[in-house]
Amino acid sequence: MKKFLVIGNPISHSLSPELHNYWIKQNRIDAIYRKKKINDFELESIILDVKKHIITGVNVTVPFKKTIIPYLDELSEESKITQSVNTIYLQNKKVIGHNTDIEGFENAIKKINFNFENKKVFILGAGGVVPSIIYASIKMGSSEIIISNRTENKALEIKNIFNNIKLVKWGEMPDFDVIINATSLGLNRDDNIILDFSKVGKNKLFYDVIYNPIETNFLKTGKNLGNKHENGKLMFIYQAFSAFRLWHGLEPKINKETIKLLDQ
Ligand code: ATR
Repeated sequence: MKKFLVIGNPISHSLSPELHNYWIKQNRIDAIYRKKKINDFELESIILDVKKHIITGVNVTVPFKKTIIPYLDELSEESKITQSVNTIYLQNKKVIGHNTDIEGFENAIKKINFNFENKKVFILGAGGVVPSIIYASIKMGSSEIIISNRTENKALEIKNIFNNIKLVKWGEMPDFDVIINATSLGLNRDDNIILDFSKVGKNKLFYDVIYNPIETNFLKTGKNLGNKHENGKLMFIYQAFSAFRLWHGLEPKINKETIKLLDQ
């Protein structure tokens, strides 16, 4: 039986096992996908297990998407640029790190029929997922990417990777077509992002990477102002879809039932 893992810390909240085991069963694959809370010192032994065929594939989540990199033999182009790995597999005896968050975001945006071409994208936050969102936004043709983060230094680190992005101070509200919450504000139901949304206007896209709760206060604000709004559920499903396809060589089904698996 093939073994798959998602590693992170914390990891109890992860719904990746629900999704992958559902698809594994549906496709009658002899495999099991588990979650494992680990510490830094365990990263090396997990990668060794991949090398020894004890583990077939690994998903990586917060806070190891970058710190896993030194233990890998090769990175995909996407992982190299974003310095972020969320999917690991063995190919020709080499352990490869790949980033399916990019495809996850891209496919989620395609699914809701929103066109990023020539759009101004304003991203709140500078955490682990932000380089992937920027990469995907550039790929989809956005004309301008602006970042704002409470801790300016972290935004500057991202500007070192993507020189053409703009930075604005935390609290400022530039003109935009799409606003993305990539902060952890909203994970608690009462969280509010203290920004002045009063002049934002209508017909923009409010996108939240968070999908639990389903509707953060940020999304409620966007909705009440007459904007399109979407949570991070589809992005999560599509990053899992891409990892599944990479590991098993087939495309799992995404339907109402799949989406319901995440309503917890
Ligand atoms: P990591 O940095 O480990 O990848 P993350 O959960 O992906 O963590 O990112 C958390 C993001 O939420 C960061 O951009 C963080 O801002 P800081 O860099 O200033 O910490 C942002 N964040 C968390 N709490 C916040 C708050 N109360 N106000 C504003 N931003 C907040």
